[in-house]
Amino acid sequence: EKGGYDHFMIKEINEQSTAIKNTLNEKDKVKEIVDEVKGTINRVVFVACGTSYHASLTGKYLIESLVGIPTEVLLASEFKYSAKALNDKTLVIFISQSGETADTLKALDVANETSKTLAIVNVRGSSATRRADYVIQTQAGPEIGVAATKTYVSQLVAIYLFSALLGEDHELLKRLEKVPDYIEEVLQKRDEIKEISKKYKRDKDAFFIGRGFSYPIALEGALKLKEISYIHAEGYAAGELKHGPIALIDRNIPVVVVIPPGQDHKKIMSNLQEVKARGADVLGIGAVGDEDLISESDDTFLINCDVDDIIAPLVYIVPLQLLSYHVSVIRELDPDKPKNLAKCVTVE
Ligand code: F6R
Repeated sequence: EKGGYDHFMIKEINEQSTAIKNTLNEKDKVKEIVDEVKGTINRVVFVACGTSYHASLTGKYLIESLVGIPTEVLLASEFKYSAKALNDKTLVIFISQSGETADTLKALDVANETSKTLAIVNVRGSSATRRADYVIQTQAGPEIGVAATKTYVSQLVAIYLFSALLGEDHELLKRLEKVPDYIEEVLQKRDEIKEISKKYKRDKDAFFIGRGFSYPIALEGALKLKEISYIHAEGYAAGELKHGPIALIDRNIPVVVVIPPGQDHKKIMSNLQEVKARGADVLGIGAVGDEDLISESDDTFLINCDVDDIIAPLVYIVPLQLLSYHVSVIRELDPDKPKNLAKCVTVE
């Protein structure tokens, strides 16, 4: 049951550090898979839908930067148009919480004809676990809320383990151990987000921007907000804003800027200034001590500065989940049961 919480979603947001710890325990099993595929593949293709697609996008940045194997990400519903370009040196990785999403299962059947397949799945014994060549089980436990939260960070952990082991990045493997503590630190400050969420009560539109590793965070933050609070939200690559959507930015439109410390900080900062100059109401999600961010933003939520851009996807998503949850509640909606959505989409 809800264990004293008002909704499953907030309970599951609070369970994320445990979900991550438990998924990190899968490391030896992930290593076995890595040992089998290593040296036999020259291309990786991720296939998924929705939130699982956003986890996959992070996987592309990780595998290309740590391992250097060309990696692409396809929506499961668009997969078949690329099927002819697969071969036995392609590893196709399916990401699915439920393991029952119709589009994803269909793509898995197609990929099985030519390529090695790996499924990263939360629900034990689900169809995807029975059909893929290799399986990594995320250990989030059952997720009841329709919006994926703890299963998303667990998918990311599985992808980080896979990429770091494939790239033999022992330092990153060590840093992953600290992620549950960083998440607990964020959760302790959840009232700050609750306060900020009041501003969004009557908004109709919002933008989320990021660059590099923070771009999929922006996409996922926008998806969360639109699905449970019914605010039209767009996630954008920060550098792409000026190629069109900046026309929509004017006074008071909320723009959430995801800006962890790291190589892209300066560039994201100048994108922040571009929207600020047009009167946007900026919420900066960045690092403790980032004085530039604090002085340029209307509101900030600050995270431990040891969380750099590379591990940011695992931690910076948490305030965005909290934001969508509180905005939903403040708009008197039920975050656990958004209209028109099902936990598992079993039609193509
Ligand atoms: C969003 C959400 C959906 C799912 C998508 C894929 O919060 O939950 O976008 O991520 O329907 O579902 P799975 O991962 O079960 O294949």
